[in-house]
Amino acid sequence: MEEIILINEVTSTSFNNKNSKGLFISFEGGEGSGKSTQIRLLSNDLSKNNLPFVLTREPGGTPVGEEIRKTLVSGKVEKLDSYSELLCFVAARRQHLKDLIIPSLNEGKIVICDRFVDSTIVYQGYAGGVSLDKIKILHEEYCFGIYPDLTILLDIDPEKGLKRKTFSNLNEDRFENQQIDFHYNIRKKYLELTEIYKNRFIKIDGSLNKIEIFEIIKSQIMNFFKKI
Ligand code: TYD
Repeated sequence: MEEIILINEVTSTSFNNKNSKGLFISFEGGEGSGKSTQIRLLSNDLSKNNLPFVLTREPGGTPVGEEIRKTLVSGKVEKLDSYSELLCFVAARRQHLKDLIIPSLNEGKIVICDRFVDSTIVYQGYAGGVSLDKIKILHEEYCFGIYPDLTILLDIDPEKGLKRKTFSNLNEDRFENQQIDFHYNIRKKYLELTEIYKNRFIKIDGSLNKIEIFEIIKSQIMNFFKKI
């Protein structure tokens, strides 16, 4: 197994923290980890406090990105070559960065993104067997080497997560339908990422009560603001 250290985080700060005014927060986690609930709570809180923010997701976030999403997560396209799949995610991400994420950060907004490049590292890289080197090269060449300022990982035992997951959108099941081992592997890889990118990742126990989780998220965001 290749070392994940190949992804170079230094490039991110050159854009995110120094040249732009906004704050880029991504949420990551396995299926049913509670991302949507926490994203909703955070958005409500930011609205209440009149803080400018944009809520977005990957794959998606732009009209073309949402079209690519349909292809990728619908389950209709069963056997997609791993590199074709990777390139679809990268294409959607580039457009997302150009049309929404970068302009919003430049306007000083907080960008909250449900999944970002860490999903690619974990799902296509570790689980899908795509070379991490290639993911890094594509990210730097086509996605401006941009990484979030903060990445919140909601960590949960996959069996609990899958039980909790409400299959509200029955068309989006290609990744959920994988074997349980796949989901354990995804969790393990996310945990490895939190060790490697300690400065950026915040790991939170996703089995805690949603209010407890949200309090942790809020305090971590406050800490981040104190540091910059
Ligand atoms: P989604 O329904 O958003 O899953 P969740 O509710 O768990 O976030 O579906 C997105 C799926 O796409 C998810 O299973 C992870 C996968 N994915 C990748 O494989 N690579 C990526 O780069 C991204 C952004 C998502």
